[in-house]
Amino acid sequence: MLNKPIKKAVFPAAGLGTRFLPATKIMPKEMLTLVDKPLIQHAIEEAREAGIEEFIIIINSGKEVLKDHFIANDALNELLISRKKQEDLDFIRSFEMDESHIKFVYQEKPLGLGHAVWCAKDLIGDEPFAVISCDDVVLSKRGCLAQMVDAYNAVGGNILAADTVPLETVSRYGILDVANEDDRITPIKGMVEKPTIEEAPSTLSIRGRYILQPEIFNYLDNHVTGAGGEIQLTDSIASLIGKQDVHAFRFDGQLFDCGSKLGYIQATLAYALDREDLSAEVRKTIAQYL
Ligand code: G1P
Repeated sequence: MLNKPIKKAVFPAAGLGTRFLPATKIMPKEMLTLVDKPLIQHAIEEAREAGIEEFIIIINSGKEVLKDHFIANDALNELLISRKKQEDLDFIRSFEMDESHIKFVYQEKPLGLGHAVWCAKDLIGDEPFAVISCDDVVLSKRGCLAQMVDAYNAVGGNILAADTVPLETVSRYGILDVANEDDRITPIKGMVEKPTIEEAPSTLSIRGRYILQPEIFNYLDNHVTGAGGEIQLTDSIASLIGKQDVHAFRFDGQLFDCGSKLGYIQATLAYALDREDLSAEVRKTIAQYL
């Protein structure tokens, strides 16, 4: 049987960004820029490359600037036209979207990642979908989600991006119990959200990319709280194990946690060094500072 295509993606963006204060006091952390594009746009471009056509952003009131970023700014466009800045105009227009493609759903209380995804339930309907966390940025030749869609086309079911983390950091992640930890794609036998070192079944962590079947909502509907008193996506995915295929997928590329200050600085450097127009000058600048 052919696997249903993944056309919709959910971007949880209603978090408070407390790890990045004071930058995020007013500005959503999804608007922090890597070189010249906000994190939300990096995530949307990755999703587009993977064939996503409908983008569902979960926000709270106070994050409306995320809407503004994707709708046409007529005054700016007219200015670019009058100044004959066609390249800039084409680029800006390439990510303008109307409401048939980009939708915003409000999650007014930070009740957890599972709750954020549940907020998209009506817009997802009966289709498999992707979830992308803007914090986790992956620099790779082929986008991380596109790699996951390739894997999905081969094995179907639910697929979670996975990466090995240092043992002392397992309590920050969802940690997987898998058949073969080193395999690129491997069935998941169990998972624990934010375990202690003693509880962790491995050091293979879930990272912020998921392909999920709509049956996940049968469990998210229950609004059960887990680790940290939050409604955890991990717990609902764990309930799917044994009923549907759930695989861990080791992606190619370098992942940066842009929710942390060091991760964000590392990502900024890596993205700047990856840009043809900037790389040589950035390299020189870094050498000067060292
Ligand atoms: C979330 C997930 C966790 C995952 C992590 C990856 O945690 O709940 O399973 O490992 O993202 O970024 P959060 O970072 O929201 O605490």
